[in-house]
Amino acid sequence: MASFKEIISTLPRRKGWTDSNNDLFLYRGFWCYSFFIEGVMSAQQNFQSQPSDIVICSAPKTGTTWLKSLTFAIVTRTTFDDSTSPLLANLSHDCVPFLEVDLAQSSTNRDPKNPLLATHVPYSSLPRSIIDSICKIVYICRNPKDSFISFYHFIARLSASKDMKPVALEEAFELYCQGVSNYGPYWDHVLGFWKASLDRPDKIFFLKYEEMIEDIVLYIKKLADFIGYPFSSEEIKKGSVDKIVSMCSFENLSNLEVNKSGKHREGTPGVIENKIYFRKGKVGDWENYLTPEMAAQLDSITLQKLNGSGLTL
Ligand code: A3P
Repeated sequence: MASFKEIISTLPRRKGWTDSNNDLFLYRGFWCYSFFIEGVMSAQQNFQSQPSDIVICSAPKTGTTWLKSLTFAIVTRTTFDDSTSPLLANLSHDCVPFLEVDLAQSSTNRDPKNPLLATHVPYSSLPRSIIDSICKIVYICRNPKDSFISFYHFIARLSASKDMKPVALEEAFELYCQGVSNYGPYWDHVLGFWKASLDRPDKIFFLKYEEMIEDIVLYIKKLADFIGYPFSSEEIKKGSVDKIVSMCSFENLSNLEVNKSGKHREGTPGVIENKIYFRKGKVGDWENYLTPEMAAQLDSITLQKLNGSGLTL
């Protein structure tokens, strides 16, 4: 049987967003770096979901770091409070295992007390056991213009820390518009989860970054209800929701020592400085980078792709 590497070497490929030779490959309709595709292939074979699992799904740069923090804080709130939470000493990515990296080979190396896991895999390529089981999925999406700008800065900052050069903004923009971004096309990723959430509203909770920024208290309560960890009226009166809002705010998390100077996956080739996950955390920052023509081009792609879906971004 062909190895994963052999299969990947036969896939269509495009240059990634840097001057390195780390190409993006088209696997089952989405573009992805080979390291992650290998993980997705392994996870599809090996991962066994538990009914109690809560799977945090997202395309990159849509608010994953925030959603992981919020969900982790919600499910661990009876064990930890806002002065003892592991989120104060660890990046949220270190509190929630990543399916295609941490759980690709086996689903048994998990903390039995932690029902959370996360993935960027599109809905149609999730391991069968996640789709078939009664476990919950929480999905976050974001306006494509902000998501693109966030992505571009992430690659630029990552490149600086790894002695690589990012492609110019204009080139990244063209690639993004063509769907050539890690786990892209972005619109297909969002639509996959959107349609699934309409078919299975009891299984998939669909969130928008902008709506959460607008009314985070409301969405924390909805999220907690959905994943089966509802806040009691007693807890709400005691300020439990507000404490999670504050602890997981951009201001608080980005100013923690661990997120200013710590590293994620230290000692591995995938090491990333934690601070790269925190930039501005604002809605509408695209206006500072995209020309009106670029914005119109992205809007038009978004309109066309989402046409008839009932979803707006
Ligand atoms: P910006 O680059 O626009 O600032 P992801 O977590 O999926 O990688 O997405 C990263 C984006 O989420 C970045 O957006 C980052 O600043 C923002 N972000 C990180 N933590 C956040 C938080 N606690 N609240 C709101 N946004 C946050």
